[in-house]
Amino acid sequence: DPVQTKTPLTMRRSPLLLLLLQLLLLAVVSNGYKPVIIVHGIFDGPKQFENISAFITKAHPGTSVKVIDLYDDLASLKPLWKQVQGFRKAAEFIMRKAPNGTHLLCFSQGGLICRALLSMIPNHNVNTFVSLSSPLAGQYGDTDYMKSIFPGCMKKIVYKICYRRSGPKVSICDYWNDPHHRSLYLQSNNFLPILNGEKPHKHMEEWRENFLHIKKLVLIGGPDDGVITPWQSSHFGFYDSNENVVEMKNQEFFRNDTFGLKTLEARGDLSVCVQSGVKHTHWHSNLTVFMNCIEKWLT
Ligand SMILES: *[C@@H]1O[C@H](CO)[C@@H](O)[C@H](O)[C@H]1NC(C)=O
Ligand SMILES: *[C@@H]1O[C@H](CO)[C@@H](O)[C@H](O)[C@H]1NC(C)=O
Ligand SMILES: *[C@@H]1O[C@H](CO)[C@@H](O)[C@H](O)[C@H]1NC(C)=O
Ligand SMILES: *[C@@H]1O[C@H](CO)[C@@H](O)[C@H](O)[C@H]1NC(C)=O
Repeated sequence: DPVQTKTPLTMRRSPLLLLLLQLLLLAVVSNGYKPVIIVHGIFDGPKQFENISAFITKAHPGTSVKVIDLYDDLASLKPLWKQVQGFRKAAEFIMRKAPNGTHLLCFSQGGLICRALLSMIPNHNVNTFVSLSSPLAGQYGDTDYMKSIFPGCMKKIVYKICYRRSGPKVSICDYWNDPHHRSLYLQSNNFLPILNGEKPHKHMEEWRENFLHIKKLVLIGGPDDGVITPWQSSHFGFYDSNENVVEMKNQEFFRNDTFGLKTLEARGDLSVCVQSGVKHTHWHSNLTVFMNCIEKWLT
């Protein structure tokens, strides 16, 4: 078998070369940069993260960047708990192979999937969680995305579809947060209010503890996003019943520390990065955003 004889032959010929190769491999493996796991957003997939993957490996050579290739494009409309199951398996697989820890970078809808992962995976090893323009406190706004999913539908009536008792639901319903129908939101939505602890459940303490295993939470967003509405949702701000934005620190889930946000803040482990001039689909391909808000946390 030619393949089997090849290795010993090389070894006999140049043990020094082999040693050098081994040292080189070792250097690459133990460069100290933790693998970065990326979770994409709605209507996109790994392809959209080629630029940011390149930014990461240029800034931190040798970093292993894994964009999870699941629920891409149209499949991203599947209900979020379903998606969480798939992403959880993939993320746990990567974590097991990264004994020194990982980082998690999640875009848009992916940020909510990642919050679920960090709450549910007991021994996750995520150091930094970067949430890139994600509707963390929900979404309430007419955007092009909404129009393509609910044609001819205004934000005022989306709740009728999203908060009804039965029937197929799209992922957006899992974070549709209509400030004019708060009690219906709490009653019918079984994703965001559960993550936020706005709807008490038996895993709250455990999920909070798991979430707090992260060492740093980085929230990125900005006023020119155009999709996330209100844009402050990327920083856990949201509308009150008059559609005035209430900032994170005045949100009940913050004050009650229902899922650990207040603790992270008190620990000094919450970094908020506001960037103007960035449209929603450009966040992950903008080098300035990467350098200002992301690079230093991915070591
Ligand atoms: C983990 O860190 C140790 C100590 O810094 C290092 O020797 C080892 O190679 C690292 N392992 C991986 C898989 O990066
Ligand atoms: C990546 O960057 C190139 C060059 O700046 C740009 O043309 C391309 O649209 C970017 N890709 C994505 C997915 O944004
Ligand atoms: C916050 O705590 C108050 C007082 O205990 C309680 O009435 C309220 O429902 C809590 N809200 C959330 C979101 O946990
Ligand atoms: C990139 O981000 C910077 C802010 O960090 C912004 O000023 C600029 O307009 C952005 N460019 C694009 C093409 O999104």
